[in-house]
Amino acid sequence: MGFIDQYIFREDGSGSLLPLNEDKVKYAIDKGGFFVAESENNVIGCCSIVGYNGIAELRTLVVYPKYKRKGIGSTLVETCKNKAREIGYESLYALVKPDAYDFFRKQGFEDTQTPPEKMEKDCLECPLYNNGCNEIPIVFRLDNLR
Ligand SMILES: CC(C)(COP(=O)(O)OP(=O)(O)OC[C@H]1O[C@@H](n2cnc3c(N)ncnc32)[C@H](O)[C@@H]1OP(=O)(O)O)[C@@H](O)C(=O)NCCC(=O)NCCS
Repeated sequence: MGFIDQYIFREDGSGSLLPLNEDKVKYAIDKGGFFVAESENNVIGCCSIVGYNGIAELRTLVVYPKYKRKGIGSTLVETCKNKAREIGYESLYALVKPDAYDFFRKQGFEDTQTPPEKMEKDCLECPLYNNGCNEIPIVFRLDNLR
């Protein structure tokens, strides 16, 4: 899944994804919250949900460049919404870069505040906190799936 690496956050503020390693992927798979799209036995996209302190967060959404704009990203997001709903969460949060914001709006996500649970878990330890973070907090209300 090397194609994820090009999207990992860098110190200059570029990148869209939290660093990922094999242990984190295995953990998400064990919890039933890691999804992939495949074509001809190759992984061409992925997305995960992570639950902590009572909230669910969508993470690691990537579609291999050649396969973008074919409905794969939205299908992966839909899968995560359904999973989060099935587990019993009321909302699915994400922090997104401006260039992915319109994509998420099309998937029904709305503007929100960064949940305190996220701040305590990740943001306070991030070098970009208060120093150039341009991530936008958004949320999908899972009641909308009823
Ligand atoms: C964002 C991303 C996952 C979208 O995946 P995708 O498979 O191309 O998306 P889809 O084909 O399902 O697109 C669904 C809709 O969103 C639109 N869309 C896709 N990417 C868009 C973008 N960057 N900006 C605005 N609209 C976008 C599509 O045109 C389509 O619109 P339609 O329903 O009116 O036809 C993909 O561009 C990607 O991997 N980006 C790099 C990593 C990244 O930024 N991840 C998000 C982490 S915050």
